[in-house]
Amino acid sequence: MSDNHTLKVAVIGGDGTGPEVAAEGVKVLRAIAQSEGIACETQDFDLGGERYLRTGEILPESVFEELAGFSNILLGAVGHPDVAPGILEKGLLLDLRFRLDQYINLRPVQLYPGVETPLAGKTPDDIDFVVVRENTEDLYAGMGGFLKKHTPDEVAMQTAIYTRKGCERCIRWAFEYTRKRNMRKRLTLVAKTNVLTYGHDLVWRTFQDVAKEYPDVEPDYNHVDACCMWMVKNPEYYDVIVTTNMFGDIITDLGGIIQGGMGVAAGGNINPEPGGTSMFEPMGGSAPKYTGKAVINPIATIAAVAMMLEQSGHEKAGQRVSQAIRTVTGTKMKSQAAGKMGYSTNEVGDLVCDAL
Ligand code: IPM
Ligand code: MN
Repeated sequence: MSDNHTLKVAVIGGDGTGPEVAAEGVKVLRAIAQSEGIACETQDFDLGGERYLRTGEILPESVFEELAGFSNILLGAVGHPDVAPGILEKGLLLDLRFRLDQYINLRPVQLYPGVETPLAGKTPDDIDFVVVRENTEDLYAGMGGFLKKHTPDEVAMQTAIYTRKGCERCIRWAFEYTRKRNMRKRLTLVAKTNVLTYGHDLVWRTFQDVAKEYPDVEPDYNHVDACCMWMVKNPEYYDVIVTTNMFGDIITDLGGIIQGGMGVAAGGNINPEPGGTSMFEPMGGSAPKYTGKAVINPIATIAAVAMMLEQSGHEKAGQRVSQAIRTVTGTKMKSQAAGKMGYSTNEVGDLVCDAL
C-alpha cells in the first residue's frame, strides 16, 4: 500500500556496471528502511543503452510520466559503448534533470576514513565540503546553432543562459543548506565575474541580495580558476560552494578525485519543491569493461542512498548509512578502486548492511 509517507523509489540501473551498484544501493535502502520503520517501495525501470539499441527509445513519454510520480529516482549509470556519446547523456540524464526541474545538484566532497586522497598530508578533517551546482541553466540549456555548417565560413554558437529566478532559487537553497549544515557557516560563490560580465554579474548580484537574508552565513567569493587551486592546496577552507552548472561539473570532478575517486563520489539532483522528483546517482560512469565482474565499488551509490534519505526527511536514517560507510571504508576495505577493494561489489553492500 502506497501513501504520502511511503518512500517511493524508481530504480534505473542503466548501463554497464550501473545495475550492479544500484542493486547494492537498494539492498542498503531496504535494510535501513526496515531498521528505522520507514515504509519504502522500489520499482525497476528498464532505460539506457540496451533499451535504446533494442527499441530506439530513450525516454518514452509514458515512462517519463510514471517516473514523475515517484519522490525519488536511484540511477546507476548511463553510457553504452555502442551508442554515440551525448545521445543517452542528453536524452536521459539531462532530460530528466531538466524536465523534473531538479535545479540543485548536490555534490558532497568528503574524504571517508581509510580512503586515500592524492593530496599529501590531508585527512578526513581537511576534506569535507559540499558543492551546490545549479542544474538547469548555463551552457547546459542547449541553446545555440550552426550557420554555414560544413563550410569554411562555419559559425557555431553555444549560449549560456542565466535567469534571475534560476540563480535565486539555487542560491537561496545553498544559503539554507549552509545554515542547516552549521559548520563553518561560509558560503563561497564560485564564478568568473571578471570575464563573464553579463551572466555572472547577474549571478553575483543575486548572491549579494540573497546574502542579506542570511546574516549568520558568511558570504564569500572565488573565481573558478582560483577555486581549483585552493581545492588542492587548502580544501579545509571550504564549507559550502555554490556555483553555475558548467563550472560545477568541472570542479566536482576535481572534488571527486580528492575524496578518493569515482568509487566514492555521489551526487543528488534535487527538486526541493513539494511533490518534486529528485534523482540520486554515483558520479562515476557505466565502466563497461568491469561489467558483470562484481569488482565495481558500490560505496558511491550507497552514499547516494544516504543523501536520498536525508533529503527526504529521514535524516537519522541517512546519517546511519553514512556512518556505516565510514565504518566499512575505515576498517574493512583495502582500496576504493575497482577490483582492489578486497571484497566483491556484493560483499561491500553486505558489509554496509552489517555495519548499520
Ligand atoms: C555529470 C556528468 C554529466 C554532466 C554528463 C554525463 C552529461 O558529467 O553528472 O557531472 O555534465 O552533468
Ligand atoms: Mn561531470
